[in-house]
Amino acid sequence: MTPARRLEVRVADDAQAVAEEAVGEILAVLVRATAERPVGVVLSGGRTPLRAYEHLLGHAAGLSWDHVHLFWGDERCVPPDHPDSNYRHARSALLDAAPVPPANVHRIRGEDPPDAAAAAYETEVRAFFAARGDPTPSFDLILLGMGADGHTASLFPGGPELDVTDRFAVASRAPVEPHDRVTLTLPVLSAARHVVFLVTGAEKRDALDRVLAGDRSLPAARVDTDVLWLVDRAASGRG
Ligand code: 6PG
Repeated sequence: MTPARRLEVRVADDAQAVAEEAVGEILAVLVRATAERPVGVVLSGGRTPLRAYEHLLGHAAGLSWDHVHLFWGDERCVPPDHPDSNYRHARSALLDAAPVPPANVHRIRGEDPPDAAAAAYETEVRAFFAARGDPTPSFDLILLGMGADGHTASLFPGGPELDVTDRFAVASRAPVEPHDRVTLTLPVLSAARHVVFLVTGAEKRDALDRVLAGDRSLPAARVDTDVLWLVDRAASGRG
């Protein structure tokens, strides 16, 4: 029995409007960070969220990043300065300018062998929640994107990693280059307090329709928690 969950779809005019909506959701979490209870935010990979990261930078004046911890939903198994690195894109769009303490940036070591990188990342995720006194990892906010095939993070349709429940991070294989990935697993995504998907572009429309209709053959439909979908008119079919 799939747990009941709240699902909200907010349609914005275009990709920039989606980014602006996302920044409002992100800031609402970041402002709650304190020394007593630091917040854990998971950044999405892919291109869609980059506008939001850039927009966030322009709206975070006066925000203290001291107790904000940043993680990634997934990473390509490439070095951190590689053009395909999700970390590199987030660094260019946000981290190079936002004063996040380096110890609070928990990147996935894409330069290491996938299984080793996944194990090290899992250790880092567990350590963050243990230090916060949380019995299980419940990120304050997870940002996710979705591919036209309905994948999210690096959880792809039919992938064996979709059935992993005893680990928080695993190596996975993408059908497109770079094939080797590391990804958070569905239990971690579904344990988050807030999940926000950012989906733009007409090429995502079919997958979005199927996910919103509950087609659980698509990984993006299997994030079983309260989910906010921020989509543009093109992806929603109201273009
Ligand atoms: C990745 C992402 C992936 C991404 C979707 C959408 O590493 O590629 O984590 O899940 O969110 O593929 O990508 P775009 O935003 O570039 O369309």
